[in-house]
Parts: sequence; structure tokens; C-alpha cells
Amino acid sequence: MTVSGEARQRAEYLRGEIERHNHAYYVLDAPTLPDAEYDALFRALQSLESEFPELLTADSPTQRVGGRPLEGFAPVRHAVPMLSIHTETDTGPGGAWAFDARVRKALALPEQAPPIEYAVELKFDGLAIALRYEHGVLVRAATRGDGETGEDVTQNIRTVRRIPLRLINAAPAVLEVRGEVFMSRPDFERYNEQQRRAGKPALVNPRNGAAGSIRQLDPRMAAERPLSFFAYGIGEAQGWRLPATHGDVLAALAGFGLPVCEHRGLARGAGELVEFHDRILALRDALPFDIDGVVYKVNALALQQELGFVSREPRWAVAHKYPPQEALTTVEAIDVQVGRTGAITPVARLAPVFVGGATVTNATLHNEDEVRRKDVRIGDTVIVRRAGDVIPEVVGVLPERRPMRHQPDGASTPVAPAFVMPRTCPVCGSAIEKPEDEAIARCTGGLYCPAQRKQALLHFASRRAMDIEGLGEKLVDQLVDGGLVKTPADLYGLDLARLAGLERMGEKSARNLLAAIADSKTPTLARFIFALGIRNVGESTARDLARHFGNLDAVMAADAARLQQVPDVGPVVAASIVHFFAEAHNRQVIEALAEVGVRGTPSEPVAIDSAIAGKTFVLTGTLPSMTRDEAKALIEARGGKVAASVSKKTDFVVAGAEAGSKLDKARALGVAILDQAQLMELLEP
Ligand code: IVH
Repeated sequence: MTVSGEARQRAEYLRGEIERHNHAYYVLDAPTLPDAEYDALFRALQSLESEFPELLTADSPTQRVGGRPLEGFAPVRHAVPMLSIHTETDTGPGGAWAFDARVRKALALPEQAPPIEYAVELKFDGLAIALRYEHGVLVRAATRGDGETGEDVTQNIRTVRRIPLRLINAAPAVLEVRGEVFMSRPDFERYNEQQRRAGKPALVNPRNGAAGSIRQLDPRMAAERPLSFFAYGIGEAQGWRLPATHGDVLAALAGFGLPVCEHRGLARGAGELVEFHDRILALRDALPFDIDGVVYKVNALALQQELGFVSREPRWAVAHKYPPQEALTTVEAIDVQVGRTGAITPVARLAPVFVGGATVTNATLHNEDEVRRKDVRIGDTVIVRRAGDVIPEVVGVLPERRPMRHQPDGASTPVAPAFVMPRTCPVCGSAIEKPEDEAIARCTGGLYCPAQRKQALLHFASRRAMDIEGLGEKLVDQLVDGGLVKTPADLYGLDLARLAGLERMGEKSARNLLAAIADSKTPTLARFIFALGIRNVGESTARDLARHFGNLDAVMAADAARLQQVPDVGPVVAASIVHFFAEAHNRQVIEALAEVGVRGTPSEPVAIDSAIAGKTFVLTGTLPSMTRDEAKALIEARGGKVAASVSKKTDFVVAGAEAGSKLDKARALGVAILDQAQLMELLEP
């Protein structure tokens, strides 16, 4: 079948459109078309090409998805060698001054000569690539190799969405674009998460991810790995009037539709180089990709020519590094730490290593699953990463450096055993609990565990619990750090002299606080249960428990089955309650509270109102003259319940201004809808 001119035109049109949208999406980050429409264009082109294979061109966007696996990569000789760049290892300002001084000396500039203009850019941490465009079409992509000869990785490079297969605007006859292929941090994290879920190996870092993908023999594998690209220079060019400066070269590349990083500029003299170095360092952790420094290039191409090369490195460019964010060290121990909410975190104790601008001796291993997945053991050599304010983490283990014990039969086993989570809290000795489907293990010590003490006290004193006014974070810190308070019961033994002696605490506020503490002694049983801080027991569950059991002893004596008779208490909540009271320490705290006269009093029998008792309300929107919390309190005082979401079981939806989807759902389900006035009417005794 011969291809009609019409089909040819249509394919041409579709390719142009798709590339235009690709450019807007991947390079400019400003999508011009909904995804579905883009997919439709793409599929139209695919089907046209499969009907008329003659129409298939090397630059067709359909070719990005990856072709057949290769036997190996063909060598590519670089017409213009791909040089490396001198690295200034002095990460302080000295690095910039030394480079500027070398350039001025090589150009034999007198001291009073004006400052040199430099193009300044980021040093991307990926893999150098040369892209050859002929008449605007990408015909070949090659790695750097030894600088003279690289490898033909065209198939894999075609899968990188940010690399245009065809340049836009009038393109030169030959243009070799040079730049860096890399994996962004978010793409790296997402890819690894996906691998983990599929039980497949994760990548060690984005750099290895990028290098590994480009050197994949199966381009379909490469296509699965999300890569990015930034252009930073050119090699061979024919049929193009070279701009006068490097800055203009980059601007021209951007004009051809190539991605050029926006964090670039011009600097005059060493002082401005230092400023750029500092500015980018401050930005480093917020960038979505890794950089290991910045690059300075003499801006005028004529001066670059004059400066030339020494031992395969241009005299006109330098990489000015930053302190590395990753380093190797060894694991001396694996401990667990208890957080303020009882979360247990395994932590690697490390041989001290300088990384990310600080000496690191500990790194988080996140949780038990993570330690097991990375299989970190004592004695292992590991990669640690510290980026900015983020807690240092163990990225991975170098398995080939693991200490092994060799058996006579030739087999070898690791010297250190695999990590196992302790069963009891290293701080307070209470049991550690980890629900099947959760990643985080927790200490059940609650009120008793010193690691959780401050958090537990703050919760105990909070407005919706014991409501002790004036007992805020700063005060709790002082009370706990000063050893005045260990458990909530100790609050009731505080005296004026001790309190008034605390920082920023006058006699008047001390008296007020003591009064508030004394006032809190007889909360409702519901508040008291809530104040205990049992995991998974919120205000509403605490109320249900109080109503159902009537006193604390009955709650403490109930087993999981009895607890589940309470409405809304399922197996998870029941287990948390049983665990809490099974812990002797928690029972001791409750006893100590009872000794000082603190106990929950069963709620006053609610005025049972048949219109409201047992009915479920959902509140939504802004009510004219009361907060949702106030409305909730009124409803509950009359025996009603307030739920968070609308379902078939909802009896009333109380809707205020700007009520959203809950109101829609109520209408859809035919649930009665009230405004504030109607609610008040219903609540009238
Ligand atoms: S220019 C003649 N600019 O650093 C100068 N290189 O040894 C050629 N790199 O692996 C390099 N960011 O891929 C230049 N903005 C940048 C760069 C950069 C990263 C890499 C390059 C090569 C190494 C240079």
C-alpha cells in the first residue's frame, strides 16, 4: 500500500504537536494539554505508524518507549573530545579566588584590569551525555567514555522525556549538545518505593540510578526509570553562527527547546563567584536534584580559545565543590530510640564521619522493616547521607565490605547477626507493640515512660483532658528536666515554693497554676480516660467507655471481647486498651493519682431526650453563632453522638455556611438537614 500524502502530512502534524506538548510539559513545566488529549494524539500517531511503517521516523515520539535489547553498545568517536573539568577542592571562598587568579595570570592581565566575566551554573551529579542533532533531529547520543570514544546509547536516551527528539525553531545542520542526564530526588524516591513494593532491588542513589539506566542494554528497562536532563554546553556545530559568549550559547540551546537549568547567571570577578557559590549552597537542599558543586566558565568564547587546555582540562572552567552529602563509614552498634509519642526508631551508631558540613555519629534507620530491607549489621560499611536539616540516614550497605566468618567447608557467614527489634522499651522496660499493618513499633509505657513523659503530661493537662490552664510546653520542660514531675500524679504534689522558683514564674502565676491543678482533681470519667493517653482512644471513645462501664475499675478489668461490646470499639482499639492497662507502670500511675484524690467521676446521668438520645449527627460548614465544638458539646450533653462523616447511619446533618461535600452526600442519601436554629429547637428540653 502506498502512503497517501495526506497520511504523511497527518503523521508530520501529530509528531509536531506531541513534541510541542512534550516541550511545554517536560522542559517548560507548563502543560498545554490535558493528559487524556495528549494520549489521544499519541495513540493516533502510533496507529498511523503501524498502518504505514514507512512513516516511522527516528525522531518519532512513539520511539521513546524503548526498542529491542542490544548486544552491547557500539563505540562512538567524539568529533570534539569530551573533556573533564578541573575540580577546586577548597570548598571555601579560596576555591573561587584561586581560579580567578589562575585565569588572570594565564591571560597576563595587569592587576588593575577590570574583572573577568564568568558564566556560572550548577554542577549536576549524573552522567555526561553528548546529543547529536542533524538538521534538528536527534540522531545519536553517546556517553563520555574516555573522552575520545564513548558508547552509543541512543535507544536509551530516546526514553528520556525531557530530551527533545527534534529541536524547535531553525536548527543548525549539525549541533552536538552536551549535558548531564540525572534522576531527580522525587523520581528516585518514587521509583525506589515502587521497586520495594514489587519486592525488587532499590537504587542506592540517584546518580547510580541515572548511570545504570543509560547503560541498560534493554531500553525497555531504561524507559521505566525516570530520568531528567540539563544541557550545559556544545561540541561540534556546523551551519551555526556561534554566539560570542557561553551564556548566549545556553540561551540559544533553550531557544531550540532544550532544557537548560534556570539557576545560572553571570558573575564578574572572584567576589561574585563566591556570592554565587554561597547562594546556591543555601538553595542546595531545596533543589529537587543532587548537585555536588557549581561550575564557573569564562564567558567570552574568544577568551576560552585563548586560554586553551592543560592536560585534557580547560583552563577556562572549574568545578567549585560543596561538602559531600554522602560518605562511607562503619556501623559500631544499632540501638533503638524512643520518641515523644513512644515511636521506637532503630538508630545506627557510626564511626564519626564528616558529611554534609557536620560530623555525624548517629543515623536513623527509620523502622524495623527498613533495617531488615537494607540488612544493616554491626561492622558493616555503610553510605550515610546528611542533607541540610534532615536527620542523617543510612542509605545502604556495601555488601562486599561486610565482615565474614569463613567456614572450613568454604562457606562464609556474616560475623554479625541480623538486627532484631527488642521486645521491651530500652528507656522504661515496658512492652513494645507493633500492629501487623504498621511500620512503627511503639513503647506501651505511655504515662510512665520518661521518653514520653513530657508529651504525656501535656496531653494529660490539655483543655479537653484534665484542663489544667497554664501548664504549657515550656513549663512541662522545666518540671520534667528539673526532676519535679515524673508522672501526672506528681503534679498534685507541687508546692508554691518550688513552682515560684522556676524560670519566668512569679508567685502570682504559681498560685494560679496550683489552683488550676487543684481544680482538675475530679474530672468526668470520660475526660479522665481520655487524659490517660491510651493509644487509639480519643475523646469520643473515652466517652463511650465511660458511659458503658460507669467506672474506671470496670474498664480496667474488661477483656478485649467485653471492650468490643462498646459501640465503635473494634479489635484495634480494644487491643490498645488491654495493652495499656496490662502495663504495671500505667496501673501504678492510676493508683498514685487515686491516692492524691484524682479520679474520674461518672458523668452525670444525661437528660435523656428521645429526639436526640442515640441519634448520630454530622456537623458541617460554619454555624452563625456557635463553633462546631460548642454544638457538639450540646448534642452530646443530650445523649446524641457526633460523627465525622455522613453515611446511611447518619440521622441529622447540621449545615452552616459553606458546607461542602458532606451536605451534598446528606442530600444524596436523604438524610435530614438542619440549620443552627432547627438544631437549637430540637435541643430545647
Ligand atoms: S562543563 C569542558 N558544566 O562534570 C567542560 N560539566 O568533569 C566540560 N558536569 O562529568 C564540562 N555539571 O558531566 C560542565 N554545568 C556543568 C556540569 C558539568 C556537571 C559534569 C560533567 C562531567 C564533569 C566534568
